[in-house]
Amino acid sequence: MKKFLWILVALVAVFGLALPGCGDSSTNPTTSAGPLKIVVATDATWAPFEYVDTASGKIVGFDIDLMNAIAERAGLQIEYKNVEWDSLLAGMAQGTYDAAISSITIKPDRLEKMNFSNAYFNAGQIIVVRANNTTITGANNISGKVGVQTGTTGDDEVSAMTGVTKVGYDEIGLAFAALLTNQIDALVCDTPVADGYVKKNAGQLKTVGGILSSEEYGIAVAKGKTDVLNKINEGLAKAKADGIIDQLIQKWLVG
Ligand code: ARG
Repeated sequence: MKKFLWILVALVAVFGLALPGCGDSSTNPTTSAGPLKIVVATDATWAPFEYVDTASGKIVGFDIDLMNAIAERAGLQIEYKNVEWDSLLAGMAQGTYDAAISSITIKPDRLEKMNFSNAYFNAGQIIVVRANNTTITGANNISGKVGVQTGTTGDDEVSAMTGVTKVGYDEIGLAFAALLTNQIDALVCDTPVADGYVKKNAGQLKTVGGILSSEEYGIAVAKGKTDVLNKINEGLAKAKADGIIDQLIQKWLVG
Protein backbone atom coordinates (compact mmCIF):
# COMPACT_ATOMS: atom_id res chain seq x y z
CA MET A 1 0.00 0.00 0.00
CA LYS A 2 2.81 2.37 0.97
CA LYS A 3 4.57 1.56 -2.27
CA PHE A 4 1.45 2.35 -4.27
CA LEU A 5 1.20 5.76 -2.57
CA TRP A 6 4.79 6.58 -3.46
CA ILE A 7 4.18 5.67 -7.09
CA LEU A 8 1.12 7.93 -7.05
CA VAL A 9 3.14 10.80 -5.58
CA ALA A 10 5.82 10.29 -8.20
CA LEU A 11 3.28 10.21 -11.03
CA VAL A 12 1.67 13.45 -9.85
CA ALA A 13 5.10 15.07 -9.53
CA VAL A 14 6.06 14.11 -13.08
CA PHE A 15 2.77 14.59 -14.90
CA GLY A 16 0.88 16.81 -12.52
CA LEU A 17 1.51 20.09 -14.33
CA ALA A 18 0.58 18.58 -17.65
CA LEU A 19 -2.81 17.34 -16.45
CA PRO A 20 -5.69 19.69 -17.10
CA GLY A 21 -6.84 21.28 -13.94
CA CYS A 22 -3.62 20.49 -12.12
CA GLY A 23 -1.28 23.40 -11.50
CA ASP A 24 -2.00 27.01 -12.45
CA SER A 25 -0.55 27.49 -15.92
CA SER A 26 -1.36 31.22 -15.94
CA THR A 27 1.25 31.83 -13.28
CA ASN A 28 3.82 29.68 -15.05
CA PRO A 29 5.90 31.93 -17.34
CA THR A 30 6.89 29.05 -19.61
CA THR A 31 3.31 28.26 -20.52
CA SER A 32 1.80 31.81 -20.61
CA ALA A 33 1.54 33.68 -23.93
CA GLY A 34 4.75 35.75 -23.64
CA PRO A 35 5.54 38.81 -25.75
CA LEU A 36 4.36 39.00 -29.35
CA LYS A 37 7.40 38.80 -31.61
CA ILE A 38 7.40 41.21 -34.55
CA VAL A 39 9.80 42.21 -37.32
CA VAL A 40 10.15 45.98 -37.65
CA ALA A 41 11.80 47.50 -40.72
CA THR A 42 13.67 50.81 -40.71
CA ASP A 43 15.79 52.67 -43.25
CA ALA A 44 18.56 53.65 -40.84
CA THR A 45 19.97 56.48 -42.96
CA TRP A 46 17.89 59.28 -41.46
CA ALA A 47 19.62 60.80 -38.44
CA PRO A 48 18.60 61.67 -35.80
CA PHE A 49 15.49 59.48 -36.19
CA GLU A 50 17.12 56.24 -37.37
CA TYR A 51 20.76 55.67 -38.21
CA VAL A 52 23.61 53.27 -37.56
CA ASP A 53 25.89 54.43 -34.75
CA THR A 54 29.38 54.04 -36.20
CA ALA A 55 31.01 53.20 -32.87
CA SER A 56 28.61 50.42 -31.82
CA GLY A 57 27.27 49.37 -35.23
CA LYS A 58 23.79 49.51 -33.69
CA ILE A 59 20.64 51.12 -35.10
CA VAL A 60 19.82 54.10 -32.87
CA GLY A 61 17.72 57.26 -32.87
CA PHE A 62 14.46 58.87 -31.80
CA ASP A 63 12.33 56.27 -33.59
CA ILE A 64 14.25 53.31 -32.15
CA ASP A 65 13.95 54.62 -28.59
CA LEU A 66 10.25 55.26 -29.16
CA MET A 67 9.62 51.81 -30.65
CA ASN A 68 11.45 50.18 -27.72
CA ALA A 69 9.36 52.22 -25.26
CA ILE A 70 6.20 51.07 -27.05
CA ALA A 71 7.35 47.43 -27.06
CA GLU A 72 8.06 47.54 -23.34
CA ARG A 73 4.59 48.90 -22.62
CA ALA A 74 2.64 46.67 -25.01
CA GLY A 75 4.40 43.32 -24.60
CA LEU A 76 6.12 43.23 -27.97
CA GLN A 77 9.48 41.68 -28.78
CA ILE A 78 11.15 43.42 -31.71
CA GLU A 79 13.60 42.28 -34.31
CA TYR A 80 14.80 45.29 -36.33
CA LYS A 81 15.63 44.96 -40.03
CA ASN A 82 17.66 47.73 -41.66
CA VAL A 83 16.35 48.01 -45.22
CA GLU A 84 16.45 50.59 -48.01
CA TRP A 85 13.57 53.03 -48.25
CA ASP A 86 12.01 51.65 -51.45
CA SER A 87 12.24 48.05 -50.13
CA LEU A 88 10.72 49.21 -46.87
CA LEU A 89 7.64 50.66 -48.57
CA ALA A 90 7.33 47.70 -50.97
CA GLY A 91 7.84 45.23 -48.10
CA MET A 92 5.16 46.91 -46.01
CA ALA A 93 2.71 46.73 -48.92
CA GLN A 94 3.45 43.00 -49.33
CA GLY A 95 3.41 42.13 -45.62
CA THR A 96 7.10 41.15 -45.59
CA TYR A 97 7.54 43.00 -42.29
CA ASP A 98 5.01 43.31 -39.48
CA ALA A 99 5.69 47.01 -39.00
CA ALA A 100 8.07 49.82 -39.93
CA ILE A 101 9.27 52.87 -38.03
CA SER A 102 11.21 55.22 -40.26
CA SER A 103 9.92 58.80 -39.99
CA ILE A 104 7.13 57.67 -42.29
CA THR A 105 4.66 60.40 -43.18
CA ILE A 106 1.05 59.24 -43.01
CA LYS A 107 -0.43 59.99 -46.45
CA PRO A 108 -3.38 58.77 -48.52
CA ASP A 109 -1.53 56.70 -51.17
CA ARG A 110 0.37 54.83 -48.42
CA LEU A 111 -2.83 54.22 -46.43
CA GLU A 112 -4.10 52.19 -49.39
CA LYS A 113 -1.20 49.77 -49.01
CA MET A 114 -0.53 49.71 -45.26
CA ASN A 115 -2.06 50.78 -41.98
CA PHE A 116 -0.65 53.43 -39.67
CA SER A 117 -0.55 53.87 -35.92
CA ASN A 118 -1.72 57.12 -34.42
CA ALA A 119 0.65 59.99 -35.23
CA TYR A 120 3.64 60.57 -32.95
CA PHE A 121 5.53 63.52 -34.46
CA ASN A 122 4.99 66.57 -36.68
CA ALA A 123 7.53 67.43 -39.35
CA GLY A 124 7.55 69.23 -42.67
CA GLN A 125 9.70 69.68 -45.74
CA ILE A 126 12.38 72.36 -45.83
CA ILE A 127 14.89 73.59 -48.43
CA VAL A 128 18.62 73.33 -47.65
CA VAL A 129 21.27 75.26 -49.61
CA ARG A 130 24.97 76.08 -49.15
CA ALA A 131 25.49 78.86 -46.60
CA ASN A 132 26.93 81.20 -49.25
CA ASN A 133 23.91 80.88 -51.57
CA THR A 134 22.15 84.25 -51.85
CA THR A 135 19.88 83.48 -54.83
CA ILE A 136 17.68 80.74 -53.40
CA THR A 137 15.67 82.12 -50.49
CA GLY A 138 12.60 79.90 -50.62
CA ALA A 139 10.11 77.91 -52.71
CA ASN A 140 9.24 80.95 -54.85
CA ASN A 141 12.74 81.31 -56.34
CA ILE A 142 14.26 77.83 -56.05
CA SER A 143 16.01 76.81 -59.29
CA GLY A 144 18.71 74.47 -60.61
CA LYS A 145 19.32 70.93 -59.42
CA VAL A 146 17.41 69.92 -56.30
CA GLY A 147 18.20 66.69 -54.45
CA VAL A 148 15.70 64.42 -52.69
CA GLN A 149 15.57 60.91 -51.29
CA THR A 150 13.59 59.06 -53.98
CA GLY A 151 10.09 58.05 -52.90
CA THR A 152 9.86 60.40 -49.93
CA THR A 153 7.54 63.33 -49.35
CA GLY A 154 10.52 65.55 -50.22
CA ASP A 155 10.39 63.90 -53.63
CA ASP A 156 6.64 64.72 -53.84
CA GLU A 157 7.35 68.33 -52.93
CA VAL A 158 10.10 68.86 -55.52
CA SER A 159 8.15 66.97 -58.22
CA ALA A 160 5.44 69.60 -57.86
CA MET A 161 7.89 72.51 -58.32
CA THR A 162 8.42 74.21 -61.68
CA GLY A 163 11.77 75.43 -62.98
CA VAL A 164 13.89 72.89 -61.10
CA THR A 165 15.65 69.69 -62.07
CA LYS A 166 14.99 66.99 -59.52
CA VAL A 167 17.88 64.69 -58.64
CA GLY A 168 16.85 61.54 -56.76
CA TYR A 169 19.16 59.70 -54.34
CA ASP A 170 18.70 56.36 -52.54
CA GLU A 171 19.90 57.96 -49.29
CA ILE A 172 19.61 61.54 -48.08
CA GLY A 173 23.29 61.47 -47.00
CA LEU A 174 24.26 61.23 -50.67
CA ALA A 175 22.18 64.32 -51.46
CA PHE A 176 23.90 66.25 -48.64
CA ALA A 177 27.31 65.13 -49.93
CA ALA A 178 26.34 66.31 -53.43
CA LEU A 179 25.16 69.67 -52.05
CA LEU A 180 28.40 70.20 -50.10
CA THR A 181 30.47 69.45 -53.22
CA ASN A 182 28.51 71.76 -55.57
CA GLN A 183 26.92 68.98 -57.61
CA ILE A 184 23.42 70.18 -56.78
CA ASP A 185 22.07 73.61 -55.77
CA ALA A 186 19.59 72.65 -53.05
CA LEU A 187 17.85 69.72 -51.47
CA VAL A 188 14.52 69.15 -49.78
CA CYS A 189 13.99 66.86 -46.78
CA ASP A 190 12.26 66.59 -43.40
CA THR A 191 12.93 69.45 -40.96
CA PRO A 192 14.65 67.43 -38.18
CA VAL A 193 17.05 65.83 -40.66
CA ALA A 194 17.85 69.19 -42.31
CA ASP A 195 18.47 70.80 -38.90
CA GLY A 196 20.80 67.94 -37.93
CA TYR A 197 22.95 68.28 -41.05
CA VAL A 198 23.04 72.09 -40.80
CA LYS A 199 24.26 71.78 -37.20
CA LYS A 200 26.88 69.17 -38.12
CA ASN A 201 28.19 71.24 -41.06
CA ALA A 202 28.25 74.57 -39.27
CA GLY A 203 28.91 77.51 -41.59
CA GLN A 204 28.51 75.42 -44.74
CA LEU A 205 24.76 74.79 -44.97
CA LYS A 206 21.56 76.65 -44.12
CA THR A 207 17.81 76.12 -44.38
CA VAL A 208 15.85 78.76 -46.31
CA GLY A 209 12.19 79.77 -46.61
CA GLY A 210 9.38 78.43 -44.56
CA ILE A 211 8.33 74.88 -43.89
CA LEU A 212 6.75 73.62 -47.13
CA SER A 213 4.35 71.05 -45.73
CA SER A 214 2.78 69.85 -42.53
CA GLU A 215 3.26 66.12 -42.05
CA GLU A 216 2.69 63.57 -39.32
CA TYR A 217 4.84 60.53 -38.72
CA GLY A 218 3.17 57.22 -37.96
CA ILE A 219 4.34 53.65 -37.48
CA ALA A 220 3.34 51.57 -40.52
CA VAL A 221 1.72 48.20 -39.83
CA ALA A 222 1.07 45.55 -42.48
CA LYS A 223 -2.57 45.28 -43.53
CA GLY A 224 -4.44 42.54 -41.71
CA LYS A 225 -2.16 42.56 -38.65
CA THR A 226 -4.78 44.12 -36.42
CA ASP A 227 -3.33 42.64 -33.22
CA VAL A 228 0.02 44.31 -33.97
CA LEU A 229 -1.65 47.64 -34.80
CA ASN A 230 -3.70 47.55 -31.59
CA LYS A 231 -0.69 46.72 -29.44
CA ILE A 232 1.41 49.47 -31.04
CA ASN A 233 -1.34 52.05 -30.51
CA GLU A 234 -1.78 50.87 -26.90
CA GLY A 235 1.97 51.11 -26.23
CA LEU A 236 2.19 54.48 -28.01
CA ALA A 237 -0.63 55.93 -25.90
CA LYS A 238 1.13 54.75 -22.73
CA ALA A 239 4.48 56.11 -23.91
CA LYS A 240 2.88 59.48 -24.68
CA ALA A 241 1.21 59.53 -21.24
CA ASP A 242 4.59 58.75 -19.66
CA GLY A 243 6.15 61.80 -21.37
CA ILE A 244 8.44 59.73 -23.59
CA ILE A 245 7.96 61.92 -26.70
CA ASP A 246 9.09 65.03 -24.81
CA GLN A 247 12.08 63.13 -23.40
CA LEU A 248 13.09 62.00 -26.88
CA ILE A 249 12.75 65.52 -28.29
CA GLN A 250 15.14 66.67 -25.56
CA LYS A 251 17.53 63.77 -26.16
CA TRP A 252 17.65 63.75 -29.98
CA LEU A 253 16.52 67.15 -31.27
CA VAL A 254 17.39 69.80 -28.70
CA GLY A 255 20.89 70.69 -27.59
N1 ARG B 1 8.94 61.66 -43.94
C1 ARG B 1 9.37 61.34 -45.25
C2 ARG B 1 8.44 60.38 -45.91
O1 ARG B 1 7.67 59.74 -45.28
C3 ARG B 1 10.79 60.80 -45.33
C4 ARG B 1 11.06 59.61 -44.50
C5 ARG B 1 12.37 58.95 -44.85
N2 ARG B 1 12.78 58.07 -43.83
C6 ARG B 1 13.92 57.37 -43.86
N3 ARG B 1 14.25 56.66 -42.81
N4 ARG B 1 14.70 57.41 -44.90
O2 ARG B 1 8.46 60.22 -47.09
